[in-house]
Amino acid sequence: MNGSIEACTFVIFGSTGNLSRIKLMPALYHLEASGKLPGNCRILATGRRPWDRERWLQEVRGMLSEEIKAGVDGEVLARFEKHLDYFEGDISDSNMYERLADHIDQQPDVSSNVAFYLSIRPAEFGIVTENLSRTGLLNEESGWRRVVIEKPFGYDLESATALQLRLTRHLDEAQIYRIDHYLGKETVRNVLVFRFANVMLEPLWNRNYIDHVQITHSEQRGVGSRAPYYDGAGALRDMIQSHLLQLLTLVAMEPPVSMESESLRDEKVKVLKSVRPIPPSAVHSQAFRAQYGPGKIGGQKVKGYLDEDGVPSDSVTETYAALKLHIDNWRWRGVPFYLRTGKRMTESVSSIMIRFRQPPTQFFRDTQIKQMDRNWLVLGIQPCECLRIQLTAKQPGLEMDTHQVNLDAGFRSQNDIYSDAYEGLLLDIMQGDRSLFLRYDEVEYAWRIVDPILRVWSVERDFITSYPAGSWGPDESRRLFEREIDKWRHNLEVE
Ligand code: BG6
Repeated sequence: MNGSIEACTFVIFGSTGNLSRIKLMPALYHLEASGKLPGNCRILATGRRPWDRERWLQEVRGMLSEEIKAGVDGEVLARFEKHLDYFEGDISDSNMYERLADHIDQQPDVSSNVAFYLSIRPAEFGIVTENLSRTGLLNEESGWRRVVIEKPFGYDLESATALQLRLTRHLDEAQIYRIDHYLGKETVRNVLVFRFANVMLEPLWNRNYIDHVQITHSEQRGVGSRAPYYDGAGALRDMIQSHLLQLLTLVAMEPPVSMESESLRDEKVKVLKSVRPIPPSAVHSQAFRAQYGPGKIGGQKVKGYLDEDGVPSDSVTETYAALKLHIDNWRWRGVPFYLRTGKRMTESVSSIMIRFRQPPTQFFRDTQIKQMDRNWLVLGIQPCECLRIQLTAKQPGLEMDTHQVNLDAGFRSQNDIYSDAYEGLLLDIMQGDRSLFLRYDEVEYAWRIVDPILRVWSVERDFITSYPAGSWGPDESRRLFEREIDKWRHNLEVE
């Protein structure tokens, strides 16, 4: 449900970090460029560095010129800079919060709504919230107070529950905005429109017609400088527990009563609750993990995971994870959902691929057509944003032969404006629209799905399969498929 955009002060904790640099500042700049950032919005960066506002502006100019490929517009920048401010303070210093409260209060001409953006280590979410509460900064008497939390929300079910308890001592659920940036992506938002604004698909969208679903996120990037976080997390926590399970809910959910946030999230939770729990004895048949070794990406040699900076030489952290899940409800019983993600793969692609069942009879029995091809519905999320339905058609000519053709819904034309996921989500925060943020029960049930796998993997620490960087991951992961003929589909094009 969209309210109106209300100005606020964005207080960013972790403003010099990677997320702020590559996502938040560029997204806020773009909102200014498109005229969507209200004039009395303030962006207050907090950090330990002893900088003044001028020094921070210099830093932001550097961030923007690195990230904004089309070039920074001087006029927009001048307007954008009017919103910016810097506050020196260490989040572990409890005195800092009183000073911060004074600093926020001292600006009478700006809105009294405040969104605190915690782009910090998850271990610090609790303590920062406690301090904000202690100093009255979460008090909503004069304006709303919202706290935006980046993933990961917890490390497993137990720690997520503990974090939730800690936060809700000081915050109402309505004040908590748990971000999953995948929900802000254009094509991901489009899954809902595509499913629920068209009548054609609904009759086919179930176990009677769908054979299986594949959800893939692959990236060429390696772990980069994130080893301290990543080595403790691994691909299952980093991508599947959050982003890929969210994609699964959008594909599998029932039509919500309305697009109002609670109705939408109720339906997503129902899907997560219907996922058949994986007992320890089934972990090997339903989950697969692997780690990249040295290889080549785009013709360039790249290191293996164990040689990356900050990775322990005996690490068995997975950089590739694949899962088979069953959803035990009327719509999906018997339709496997295959999810996979990997770093240092051949290509960077995110997609949802839906494979339909075989036609019931071999219709063209007396022709050369031996086996009818199946239909696929392909949703490209990135980099190619597309929607394709793959059909069988007759090949032109005298023979009765067939080939695969695409019904391609050109999702975006060249002149369409591209906006990053964070832009929409930042606006949603100002509008108080939580539909694309995670409610706690979504996080909880997502942990319930992956927890049994994490537990088995955490004790099996002697060995992990390796795949060469630049490949599609190990062939052995095919064993997750129910039938020999099924395999991962890498390509969005007609096969
Ligand atoms: C993040 C993960 O949440 O998502 C990263 O922590 C991953 O490891 C990233 O690379 C992928 O996001 P995107 O938008 O680049 O597909």
